[in-house]
Amino acid sequence: MAIQIPRGTQDILPGQSEIWQYIENTARELCRRYQYKEVRTPIFEHTELFLRGVGDTTDIVQKEMYTFQDRGGRDLTLRPEGTASVVRSYIENKMFGWANQPVKLYYVGPMFRYERPQAGRFRQFVQFGIEALGSKDPAIDAEVLSLAMSLYKELGLKKLKLVINSLGDKESRTSHRNALIEHFQPRIGEFCSDCQNRLEKNPLRILDCKKDHDHELMKTAPSIIEHLNEESRAYFEKVKQHLTDLEIEFTEDPTLVRGLDYYNHTAFEIMSDAEGFGAITTLCGGGRYNGLAEEIGGPETPGIGFALSIERLIAALNAEGVELPIEESIDCYFVSLGDAAKDYTVKLAYELRKAGFTVEKDYLDRKVKAQFKSADRLKAKYVAVLGDDELSNQKINLKNMETGEQVEMELATFTDEFKKLQA
Ligand code: HAM
Repeated sequence: MAIQIPRGTQDILPGQSEIWQYIENTARELCRRYQYKEVRTPIFEHTELFLRGVGDTTDIVQKEMYTFQDRGGRDLTLRPEGTASVVRSYIENKMFGWANQPVKLYYVGPMFRYERPQAGRFRQFVQFGIEALGSKDPAIDAEVLSLAMSLYKELGLKKLKLVINSLGDKESRTSHRNALIEHFQPRIGEFCSDCQNRLEKNPLRILDCKKDHDHELMKTAPSIIEHLNEESRAYFEKVKQHLTDLEIEFTEDPTLVRGLDYYNHTAFEIMSDAEGFGAITTLCGGGRYNGLAEEIGGPETPGIGFALSIERLIAALNAEGVELPIEESIDCYFVSLGDAAKDYTVKLAYELRKAGFTVEKDYLDRKVKAQFKSADRLKAKYVAVLGDDELSNQKINLKNMETGEQVEMELATFTDEFKKLQA
């Protein structure tokens, strides 16, 4: 039996890969405007990084990591997300000492999670993400959010919903944590074993439980908003004010709890509201993670960022019926007739390509008619026809496929003439 692709992964084939490139280019261009610079970190890291960074009570760490030992006995993990790696790199490369602060980074690359595959959920998926390290100005929270929204909007998505929450600072979270324990403890026996473990370690994660989602205690659980201290409240107000000034619509959801442990203050998700998008509507997630750098051995560093998967972005484009303006045509197709002419088109194609044109020719000894069909399929703007007769006269025929107009050109000056046509 032929070997098949692993579950939860996909091949991105020609026809699709152009869409990926278009999205990635748009994201890179946006980062250039916002002055986020690309960082490329390894696909695998020491497992310890994610245990400490993402948090050992999270689903990601407990159930979803691709962890293995290499031949030297090192404990390694395929990265399930980008933030921990970026912060590790920030510390290791002493970016806190760079002249330009805050340090603003972006990444595009595959992430790996052993999840149950379904529409919009893969085991290997590509995240585009940004991280701003070294500033606790609420304006940078708004900048990060505005970049995410701008990417979706520039690609043509309209049915978006931005949901934000504040998880507050350490003091606020401790106070909320205690209230949650008090709330759930008396009836924790009615909850799943995961939630029972979470009660002491990280009760906030109970609110995110998929199994006990409908338990009545979930609805009456104390809200973080009631436990925000004055500073956290003021910070959140300022972020919201900036968003309002930027005319970025949002809704507040005090139950929004992100699936990773490092968040505090601003937390957000962007959802698709498109009909028929499917059950998983979250396109993008992010938030502030002051304290993460210390957690993995670095200096105190505030940080905020987001990540989104290109897979879900494409699903949203499909759900909204957005067609990206992808250039499909080619500049010239060479049709040849006869062996000598065929050989000569190898050189002509090379020259036009060197001059920057998109060019194709026949490599299957097809009949002239079939070669023209290929040219049509490739949406060639021009077809250059060279037969052995023309070759002996040092001429070539060029047909404009849009107008049907044909001109005979000197073979010696063909490339230059072709360039002039395009000018
Ligand atoms: P996350 O919410 O785990 O956050 O993932 C962010 C985004 O990655 C999701 O909103 C979704 O678009 C995509 N995603 C996650 N899992 C899958 C999957 N199995 N298949 C397809 N797409 C998926 C993080 O990863 C954080 N590092 C985000 C962040 C950056 N926070 C601060 N900076």
